Amino acid sequence: MTGQHSQRGVFIALEGGEGAGKSTQARLLAEALRERHIEVDVTREPGGTPGAEAIRSLLLDPPGEGWDASAEALLFAAARSDHVAKRIKPALARGVWVISDRFLDSSRAYQGIAGELGDDTIRVLHEIGSDGFRPDLTLLIEVPGADVAARLAARDGDQSDAIGGRNEEYHEAVAKGFRQIAARDPDDFAIIEGAGSAEDVHARILNALSPWLGASAQ
Ligand code: TYD
Repeated sequence: MTGQHSQRGVFIALEGGEGAGKSTQARLLAEALRERHIEVDVTREPGGTPGAEAIRSLLLDPPGEGWDASAEALLFAAARSDHVAKRIKPALARGVWVISDRFLDSSRAYQGIAGELGDDTIRVLHEIGSDGFRPDLTLLIEVPGADVAARLAARDGDQSDAIGGRNEEYHEAVAKGFRQIAARDPDDFAIIEGAGSAEDVHARILNALSPWLGASAQ
């Protein structure tokens, strides 16, 4: 029967601070995989399903005085729960590869570390929301702080959202948080040097994915 796959797809998350170029890299990676005849679904967090996109609006453009740290973390976990159940897991089961622009480790770095809720709290929320479901590989794109500031000024001007617009100290804690998270579980991460052109970064990503591509793209 057509449309059936015996092999599960591969789940790749792209992580990093603001302005690291994740969305561009998600697109370039999807194109490269499709050229290899791999079916790909590109998605993002918060969002990816109608319910999670509605929660995204609540998070990035909050009503009233905004959310406190735990309410914010719960909303991210709720959005992720819907995204995992309704989009990511079904796609993987069909043999489709999924690339998500941000996933759980954003909650660990932003809410857990920079927001000071702690890693255990974020893990518990993820257990409840998504059975602790993890990517096969997380690509952490690291960009020097000065480059990020320039990219963000070009992209957002003074229009940054409720979280992107937090102070420098918060975003430094996020960057440090991502490094700590990746250092703790090195097998689950590839750290990608984000300096240089989009094509340079893309080549580094393909290189990091070579173990998966070797098995699946022949
Ligand atoms: P987005 O516009 O997608 O940011 P970027 O282009 O930098 O990826 O907005 C997502 C924002 O939400 C971003 O500031 C990071 C934040 N975020 C968290 O704080 N926790 C999370 O779990 C996720 C997925 C995102």
